[in-house]
Amino acid sequence: MAEHLEVLLSEEEVDARIRKLGEQISKEYEGKNIHLVCVLKGASFFMCELAKRITVPVSIDFMSLSSYGSDTESAGVVKIVKDLEEPLEGKHVLVVEDIVDTGRTLKYLIELLKGRGAADVKLCALLDKPDRRVVDVKADYTGFSIPDEFVVGYGMDYAQRYRNLPYIGVVKFDN
Ligand code: IMP
Ligand code: MG
Repeated sequence: MAEHLEVLLSEEEVDARIRKLGEQISKEYEGKNIHLVCVLKGASFFMCELAKRITVPVSIDFMSLSSYGSDTESAGVVKIVKDLEEPLEGKHVLVVEDIVDTGRTLKYLIELLKGRGAADVKLCALLDKPDRRVVDVKADYTGFSIPDEFVVGYGMDYAQRYRNLPYIGVVKFDN
């Protein structure tokens, strides 16, 4: 099936929003260190841009999860593909995610990280699709709320493609 892309959020809009998020987070974590946990692969572009806009001390770590399901829908069974390298005890953990969809992945991840002795665990997501929520998860920081459409770019993929787009687009299938 052929497909094409439509721009949902331009590079300028995304960059401006991330700058604001960085300012807000820096203010709210004043006097603390932030331990950023990036959920691979989708959140990697966002995490780098966000980290550059945070002015309090930051450390970073990466985790990779897989949820079984089709290309465009997670099934809620989450597996750790790559675990963190650093311990979390006493840290102010900020999980950085590309998008909260059903919420299943993040629900699982946040519970897991809380159980590892972090001082606190908060969530920052570039995008939120509230209409799709199945389990109760709310990001502490959200870049944009978007309608229920499958998006790509800025780290997010469709069948591993389009992660390198500097903007956020919607995949439209032509038929
Ligand atoms: P959830 O467990 O359903 O919330 O799924 C979250 C994960 O599914 C995200 O971290 C993304 O990796 C992926 N995902 C959900 N919606 C989209 C989308 O529109 N485009 C690309 N990936 C998505
Ligand atoms: Mg993801």
